Amino acid sequence: MSSSNVQSSPNVCVIAGDDAAPEVMRPTVEILRMLAPDILFVEALSGREALEHYGEAFPGETRERIDAADCTLFGASGGPSRPLLWYLRWGKETYVNVRPVRWYPGYRSPMLHPERINYVIVRDNLEGMYPPREGDLNELVALSSSGSWWQPPPVEKRGAYAVRICTDEQMYRLAIAACELASRRQLAGYSGCVTLGAKYSIMPRTDGRLRSIVMETVHAYPGLSYQEFLIDDLARRMVAAPETLDVVVLSNEHGDILADVASGSIGGLGLSPSACYGEHYAYFEPVHGSAPDLAGKGIINPTAMLLSGAMMLAHLGYTHQSQQLERAIELTYHEGVSLTCDQGGKASTVEFVEAVVDSIVAMNNRDMV
Ligand code: NAD
Ligand code: IPM
Ligand code: MN
Repeated sequence: MSSSNVQSSPNVCVIAGDDAAPEVMRPTVEILRMLAPDILFVEALSGREALEHYGEAFPGETRERIDAADCTLFGASGGPSRPLLWYLRWGKETYVNVRPVRWYPGYRSPMLHPERINYVIVRDNLEGMYPPREGDLNELVALSSSGSWWQPPPVEKRGAYAVRICTDEQMYRLAIAACELASRRQLAGYSGCVTLGAKYSIMPRTDGRLRSIVMETVHAYPGLSYQEFLIDDLARRMVAAPETLDVVVLSNEHGDILADVASGSIGGLGLSPSACYGEHYAYFEPVHGSAPDLAGKGIINPTAMLLSGAMMLAHLGYTHQSQQLERAIELTYHEGVSLTCDQGGKASTVEFVEAVVDSIVAMNNRDMV
């Protein structure tokens, strides 16, 4: 999951996604083109638009464009784009989902001291309860290990079960990704502490195994420290003591839920970016979904999408441009004049983006003086 250096011009596949997602994708790509004119952005369709155009929600041409690109920038799936999301995760084996949680002045946080929030969630992106493997309860009769369970499965009753998978390969590479990130952050002055949150007390075979693997991996990095909390206690700590967190390792479903909690703590889903890295591919998407309640209103907050774009620029080696974009967003919140309604402002999506562009232009003009 290392960042590549800019060599030849990269090719980025852009897939806007469903509902309100195109409203944040369009201006994000405009800003990215302005910051890095040499990147080739190739659009591809998914969901309803693809159905209308190709007769299928995830057409072969979209898959080919993803494969041909160095990485993909994705808006969000509101259901119709789910096959595409499945491909970006399992098809491209993007095994780790990195979700930074950082408050900037101007973000409308409900917390008393939001300035203490600056950590990163490292989420398993492939296993656990995902992708769904579910069935009828009575199928469990055939499962030999069920004889040793604390309670036999109530196979005589009508109902369903779900399977959770945890391979050592995935847990080790998740742990290594977290340690590598913690080491890089440590160079920038962070604590170098990796925190595991899991239910190892109740699920020794799955969460207990994740715990052993993460602990062992962190101990192989002499500069890093390790702490662990039961997942429910960790949820409380995210609210009560976020300053004690640096890099937080979570299973797929815990990471999904707690990333939204963390997002709520800084001011909402409009603010939270993410990146999904694999050995051979990466894609970038906000933590939020397709916000169907906002579709067509022109008021969706594009910050999460823009910051996901900044993570993509960094991954492609455009370090300066990535920092410029982050700084311009920070300045826009600091000024607080052109904020969207989720942040207490009156600006439209486009007006917010114009303010970010103005900040970039002002920064460039200052650099030239
Ligand atoms: P959601 O994240 O779309 O919206 C939850 C709430 O947050 C809504 O009130 C919405 O208006 C608000 N919100 C979200 N993004 C915002 C933004 N950028 N600016 C301002 N407010 C924003 O979650 P949901 O409503 O539970 O799900 C809608 C659909 O999105 C579902 O189909 C869900 O499965 C999907 N989803 C997809 C992804 C993804 O593609 N990675 C992630 C999460 C949810
Ligand atoms: C996310 C989303 C997805 C998930 C859904 C859309 C499958 O909530 O990316 O956070 O559960 O991983
Ligand atoms: Mn989610």
